[in-house]
Amino acid sequence: MSFRTIEWLDDAVVMIDQTRLPGEEVYNTYTDFQSVAEAIKGMIIRGAPAIGVAAAMGVALGARAIIADTHESFFRQLDNVCDVLGRTRPTAVNLFWGLERMKRVAEANRSKSFDKIREALKKEAILIEQEDLTICRNIGKWGATLIPEGATVLTHCNAGGLATAGYGTALGVIRAAHEAGKKINVFADETRPWLQGARLTAWELMKEGIAATLISDNMAGFFMSRGEITCCVVGADRIAANGDTANKIGTYSVAVLAKENNIPFYVAAPVSTLDLSLSDGSKIPIEERPASEVTHIRGVAIAPEGIRVRNPAFDVTPARYITAIITENGIVTGDYRSGLRKVASFSCT
Ligand code: MRU
Repeated sequence: MSFRTIEWLDDAVVMIDQTRLPGEEVYNTYTDFQSVAEAIKGMIIRGAPAIGVAAAMGVALGARAIIADTHESFFRQLDNVCDVLGRTRPTAVNLFWGLERMKRVAEANRSKSFDKIREALKKEAILIEQEDLTICRNIGKWGATLIPEGATVLTHCNAGGLATAGYGTALGVIRAAHEAGKKINVFADETRPWLQGARLTAWELMKEGIAATLISDNMAGFFMSRGEITCCVVGADRIAANGDTANKIGTYSVAVLAKENNIPFYVAAPVSTLDLSLSDGSKIPIEERPASEVTHIRGVAIAPEGIRVRNPAFDVTPARYITAIITENGIVTGDYRSGLRKVASFSCT
């Protein structure tokens, strides 16, 4: 890939600034956990797996800065680092998965020196980033088997290299089908209000030389009803035990339209996006973001001042609309409860 979403470089975290794409390709360097937390909150980095990696790297940065006399004090401060990072975005479970994984590593090294604990945390954060690349490639391999030659694939939001450590989940499936030599065309929903589809997915696909067509969100039904869409592939921010899936706002509408038009609707996500502690999607916390994202587009007002606004960033697609969930450990369809438990129980990295 011709860009890096996030990497650990010279004891700092470097991220491509997604708020400035596609106009400018700028890389920001972060040396403290507070600014990583701000970057997650401000969507400089976004997408469930990518914010999991960012949170883990944030913990590693936070640990480096801790000054403590005792292990008790060190661990108390580390908990605070995790709390600050955990308060950034509530829906994508990968954030909490990343933080938990870092806490477990710290705990496993509790008896060691502070420097050894710091080193173990840095290694783990880098490992999470590297594993994510392998995971996405495996999601791609499984998912590509579902994409027919000549398909037109509709996707919503950005579940690409920018939303992961690279390669992507939904776009990973598309990339893998393209790499396998299938001639495919992608319809990218623009994804209001933040325009992940127009700004990020369109950018990634064009960079990769994959045929892409940008549509506004309200056009999906039109193209589906005309038989122009073969299948839909989207990412996920949190998948409950019964397969209900939280993803970018508007995903639910796409799924309902797909069912109405007999079009397969696939969700592509790593096992780290599963939250089997939640029995169904009604328990998934949904982030509400600032009104300005709806009233303005890139700083320009498009609505009268003072209008009341709602801005939920995600919605939940009930499992009955999902044809299959593609993970790095295989494709789950039918009985999601047992199928998701099965794919969650083994590791392929
Ligand atoms: O608000 P965002 O841009 O972080 O939302 C991202 C999405 O909804 C993605 O589809 C999801 O995180 C999957 S990314 C592989």
